[in-house]
Amino acid sequence: MTAIPDVVVIGGGAIGLSIAWRSAVAGLRVTVVDDHHPAQASWAAAGMIAPVSEAHHGEENLIDLNLLSARRYPGWIEELEEASGRVTGYTPCGTLVVALDGDDKEQLDHLHGWQAELGLPVERLRGRECRELEPSLAPMVRAGLFMEGDHQIDNRKLVDALEAACIRREVDFINGSVASLTVQGERVTGAGLASGDSIACDKVVLAAGCWSGGIDGVPPSVTDGVRPVKGQLLYLTGRPGQPPLAQRNVRTMDVYVVARGDGRSVVGATVEELGFDTTVTAGGVHSLLRDAIRVLPDVAEQVLTECVAGLRPGSRDNRPLLGPGEQDGLIVATGHYRNGILLTPATGDLIAELLVTGATPAPLKPFAPTRFADAGVSV
Ligand code: GLY
Repeated sequence: MTAIPDVVVIGGGAIGLSIAWRSAVAGLRVTVVDDHHPAQASWAAAGMIAPVSEAHHGEENLIDLNLLSARRYPGWIEELEEASGRVTGYTPCGTLVVALDGDDKEQLDHLHGWQAELGLPVERLRGRECRELEPSLAPMVRAGLFMEGDHQIDNRKLVDALEAACIRREVDFINGSVASLTVQGERVTGAGLASGDSIACDKVVLAAGCWSGGIDGVPPSVTDGVRPVKGQLLYLTGRPGQPPLAQRNVRTMDVYVVARGDGRSVVGATVEELGFDTTVTAGGVHSLLRDAIRVLPDVAEQVLTECVAGLRPGSRDNRPLLGPGEQDGLIVATGHYRNGILLTPATGDLIAELLVTGATPAPLKPFAPTRFADAGVSV
């Protein structure tokens, strides 16, 4: 007879897999259920690790967790590559945010003031200094901010490496989707699959991104607290002999270009509130290309290899939902919105710690999934 797993992780994106891997390393028996949806946020992503350049006003209390995860990245990747035998394309390249006109410059000044107040590591540059760093930038670049700690990883290689590391640790995989949680009294005791099978376990981790709220039996904090936020992205490849578009991640107020060292680049991303729609639109592709060519004219010479739409798991306050759910036996790890790849190491480590010890680690406390109900906000 197969032993009942300690943990069933619903969702095999970067977040679910990192939790599964770290839990298995800690000695737990883990099963991951995943249906490989093509719009999974970790597959349709650019792989930016951007605690500073993706920091937005009003998200001050997220920055500590973002920085903690970014600091963990180098050591965590070393362990993951060793454990999986795979490379992940983690590249400590820095990010350059540039202004193309007076309005952009004003926004950049504002952003710089706020980031400096928070003590974030940002360097103010003139247009000429930006072009010295990245000679392919358009001549119209007027100013920039260099964030030396904002890096990139190949998100698809990251997912592959996590899966390989899980397999080496004897994590079981079920290819399918979960239709319901099994609830006995006030306790979650397993998961019911869409195929009709069910799995009993000690703890369920809900890490199904924007699909987390569609599972029968999940609490209102998740059904009403997590929604899909569509992002369209383009994948480009340089033609033979073409140098990489940039050495660093480059972004404006409207677009980002993440150039990999091997000549591929990712251009992103739209932010659209259209429910579960995953169509790639002419308008989306047009605006991404227009904005990317405006800042890096060489984009026009690249081969367009893929257009994709992914669904980010947005939450009510753009912060993740991390920790025990309303029912015993349920742990929630979703709502990472724009920061899923960045927050993968911290989420994996801290949720695994919670599973092993039963105590919520301090850095997760501000992200309790129940925070809206606790604050009297109807969910
Ligand atoms: N983190 C980039 C995005 O969500 O588009």
